[in-house]
Order: sequence, then structure tokens, then C-alpha cells
Amino acid sequence: MPTKHYFVFNNSEPMSHLDKDAWDSLRVGTENPAFQFETTLEKYESNCTRRTDCREMAKAIRDAILSIGAGVSSVVSLGAGKGIVEWHLKKLLPSLPMICTDPAESGVASLRQLFPACDKVMVFDMLKGDYSVFGKDAVLLMNRVSTEFTPTEWKQIFKSCRSSGVKYILFVPTEIASIRLKTMETLRHLARRVLCRRDTFCGWLYSRREFDMLISSQYSIEGFKKIGHSAIYKLTLL
Ligand SMILES: C[S@@+](CC[C@H](N)C(=O)[O-])C[C@H]1O[C@@H](n2cnc3c(N)ncnc32)[C@H](O)[C@@H]1O
Repeated sequence: MPTKHYFVFNNSEPMSHLDKDAWDSLRVGTENPAFQFETTLEKYESNCTRRTDCREMAKAIRDAILSIGAGVSSVVSLGAGKGIVEWHLKKLLPSLPMICTDPAESGVASLRQLFPACDKVMVFDMLKGDYSVFGKDAVLLMNRVSTEFTPTEWKQIFKSCRSSGVKYILFVPTEIASIRLKTMETLRHLARRVLCRRDTFCGWLYSRREFDMLISSQYSIEGFKKIGHSAIYKLTLL
């Protein structure tokens, strides 16, 4: 069973759970600077440049894309948020067409302005969207969106990708949870409740075994490269 994941946001208004609309308000609000879009291109680019962790992740994603070979038509990032990894990836692979997506219009509009090198920035809801619009040779990048969906939703997402003929997916979990991490997460949440500190339900933490089970009915796991607390799963059609 995945474990419930909580986070303490700096909001004056209580936020009981984080859904796509709550994400959008975080992107435009001012109370949580780490999640908020910068107000100018210069500030955005300087923040991206500072994020050497995202550059390292982008390099690993670039290597995974190159290992797929010459048939790749584009890279499509689903739930790209502020698009920082994607900004580095576009610098590393400038000639590969890139599409960044997120489910709410205002975040997408901000990213479109701040990341002009990205070939297309569009609204796409991973739960409802038609994956065939990206074409069969696109690599779908699912970077740090693993907590957003329940097991049933993840199964549906992989099933929709498969039935649309999506051949390649790079799945990069927010983190791969050990038993220790899951226990700590639950204990921290209980401690906050005892101390009457407000936290927000932010989705689900999965173990490697849980991820493998969600993926493997629809896609074959061709590669698994551990990176810090996460990994890059390279998935191809069964
Ligand atoms: C933890 S953030 C990760 C953002 C970005 N990939 C990163 O690594 O910084 C999760 C992202 O998932 C997006 N998201 C939430 N629900 C979604 C949905 N139904 N379809 C697509 N994206 C969704 C949110 O808007 C948010 O940008």
C-alpha cells in the first residue's frame, strides 16, 4: 500500500489537500516562493541556472533519451510545473522538439512566457488527456509526478498511454520510498497532529515494488537507473 504524503506549506489560508487547482494557486501565489513562478525571465533563468541538481537530472534524462536511439520525434514533459529540469534538458538537446504540459492554464501561461526556448507549452491533464496527440515516437517524461495519483489512477494513466500507442516513457518518481521513509512520513504527520500543526495531504509515496507493479501490466521496464532517492525508469511497450 502506498503511504500518504504530507507537506507543511506557508499558507495563511488552510489547504487541506494538493490537487491541480491548489498547485496552480501555489504557482501564482507569493507565500511559498519555492513553488511560485518568477516574475521575470532573468529571475527565472537565474533560478534555473542555480539548480545544479536539476541539471544533473537533465543529463541523466538526456542519456536515457539518447539510449532509445534515432526514432525519437520529441520529448513531452507531463506535469512539468516550473519546467526547471526541462530548461536544462533543452540546453542539452536543443534540436529535439520539446513540449511541456501542466493541467492548469495560468501555470502554463507563465511557463510559456518564461521558457521561450520550449517549442510548445500546453494544458494537458494526465487523467483525462488523449495521449495520441503527441505521436507514437514521442518520449513521454513523467518527472516527479508520482505522488499526484492513486494506484488506480496510475494504472489508468499507463493503460491510456498504451492504448494510444505511446512507445517510450521515462518515469522519474518524486522519490522511491523505503519502509523507513514511509514510517517516518506517518510519524511526522501524527506528531504534527498532536502539536496541532497544520499540514497538507499531497498524495502518495510508493516503494520500488509498488511502482514496478503499477507499471508492469502495461509497460516493460527496460532500464532502471538510481539517482539519489529517485531513479529513471525507462519503459517501453510490452
Ligand atoms: C511535484 S510537482 C512536479 C513539477 C515538476 N515536474 C518538477 O519536477 O518540479 C507535480 C506537478 O504535477 C502536476 N499535476 C497535478 N495533477 C496533474 C494532472 N492531473 N495532470 C497533469 N499534471 C498534474 C502539478 O500541476 C505539478 O506541476
